[in-house]
Amino acid sequence: MRACKENELQTTRRSRARTQLMIRKIKVLTLFCFIVLTAILANVFPPNAKGNTANIQKDVSGATLFANNCARCHGGDGKGGKGPDLASEKRQAKWKESDEKLVKKITKGGFFMPSFGKKLEPAEIKAIAAYVRTLKQ
Ligand code: HEC
Repeated sequence: MRACKENELQTTRRSRARTQLMIRKIKVLTLFCFIVLTAILANVFPPNAKGNTANIQKDVSGATLFANNCARCHGGDGKGGKGPDLASEKRQAKWKESDEKLVKKITKGGFFMPSFGKKLEPAEIKAIAAYVRTLKQ
């Protein structure tokens, strides 16, 4: 009788331990699923750096864009430095008809000049081109 009771006690103890183990397994599994899901979501919706900066700085002013992207080579006033003088009469004559040549140059870059086609939005490039054309002396 006593042995029987002890046996029963052992069985309940064992089954309780088994339940706890199962709960722990479920917890680990849940955590694992959560991590995997987070990783998948992070891949599906990567934080878009371009979009973020566009949200923070929605400034399409040609002057500001020129100062931020071009001045280090062409000078703050466009009169040149590492890059050629963009304000000279000869250069200005090149693109007096339209923005087209400037847009192309800025988008594609040159031999020494970096291309901005990936870095800037088309609207921003257009704004810079329009600004460059106002640099004539
Ligand atoms: C790393 C320096 C550098 C930066 C930054 C740079 N440029 Fe240039 N740029 C040059 C050099 C050098 C040349 C001439 C040789 C070449 O085409 O690579 C040039 C050429 C040009 C020309 C052609 C001039 C011609 O004779 O027709 C234009 C227009 C121009 N840059 C505009 C810009 C504008 C606008 C920006 C900003 C969006 C810019 N550049 C940024 C270095 C730079």
